[in-house]
Amino acid sequence: MDMKQNTDEPKVRVGVVGGTGYTGSEVLELLRRHPRADVAFATSRSRVGEPSPIPGLTFSEPSSERCREVDLVFLCLPHGAGADWVDAIGKGPRIIDLTSDHRPGSGREDEAVYGLAEFAAPKLAEAKLVANPGCYPTGAIFALMPLVERGLMDLDRLTIVNAASGVTGAGRTLRVDLLFGEVSENFRAYGEGNRHRHLREMKATLPGTSLLFQPHLLPIRRGILETIVVPVPDGVGPDEVREAWVDQYESGGAVRVLPEGMPEIRDVVNTDMLHLGVSAVEGVEPPVLTVVAALDNLGKGAAGQAVQNMNAMMGWNLNEGIRCGP
Ligand SMILES: NC(=O)c1ccc[n+]([C@@H]2O[C@H](COP(=O)([O-])OP(=O)(O)OC[C@H]3O[C@@H](n4cnc5c(N)ncnc54)[C@H](OP(=O)(O)O)[C@@H]3O)[C@@H](O)[C@H]2O)c1
Repeated sequence: MDMKQNTDEPKVRVGVVGGTGYTGSEVLELLRRHPRADVAFATSRSRVGEPSPIPGLTFSEPSSERCREVDLVFLCLPHGAGADWVDAIGKGPRIIDLTSDHRPGSGREDEAVYGLAEFAAPKLAEAKLVANPGCYPTGAIFALMPLVERGLMDLDRLTIVNAASGVTGAGRTLRVDLLFGEVSENFRAYGEGNRHRHLREMKATLPGTSLLFQPHLLPIRRGILETIVVPVPDGVGPDEVREAWVDQYESGGAVRVLPEGMPEIRDVVNTDMLHLGVSAVEGVEPPVLTVVAALDNLGKGAAGQAVQNMNAMMGWNLNEGIRCGP
């Protein structure tokens, strides 16, 4: 990837709307250490005047006028509020919307560039509005897109995406089903019957695939593991899949292809990396492979990818300021 590295450039002035939520806090943590970003404001309606993660900066009331005074705004808001804020801000700053409001399948996808950072870097350089991908779709799409594009999947058969997320995936709003007493020492499926809203984002991005998406709630704070049953044509095995991933991701970014073994949540949590692994499956005809993707829902699944998108929009190295681990 051809990225400029001129450190004499002035820093980009950034604002964060929804800075007290899970994704907003994580975006602020990354921006605090980013060498090329200056955070001008971070908003919250409930914690105005309280200190933010940025030294010397307190949370302020959300204001669309304030947004128009900076170069770039991160919208870390509930679904629906992202679109309202994009409309209210109007012309002016470039925007990275972490909500689903402008993602593929939303009905407003034409207004934005879909921010799959490693795939979209050239388009992102020109983008005014970026739709940051959802956490579950990031795992499935990064695992499957290189296979779809290279004809390595049998699209006539069902692909099953079994996924589990820590509870921060649901945001910081109070909910009875997310109380400690409900979640701890438990493991359950939800959104069963292909009802989870992330499915439409996956389907719109992986055309031709037939997907069954089954999310689960893990009794941990953060992290996602997706175990995907991938139907493949005869002759396609783990080696071909790894080759496709390496070919796709070796030029840079935050995806690690494991040469052997399967990804685990503990290796990606508190990082912005996505790990991919693949295994042969014995005794199933027609053939399938098991693919596993692991990511931190707040890292590569949200804030990490949002900061990569900012880097791509500004023409910087894609991984500037993100946590790529050892
Ligand atoms: N959590 C994840 O793992 C994850 C991953 C990928 C994408 N996402 C997406 O990212 C977005 C944010 O998620 P989150 O988990 O950070 O949510 P969250 O924890 O509920 O935080 C929402 C933030 O927005 C503020 N807010 C709420 N309504 C607002 C409004 N109408 N106007 C202005 N500010 C408002 C809240 O603070 P005040 O109430 O104090 O204003 C809070 O700071 C969601 O659309 C979510 O789907 C989340």
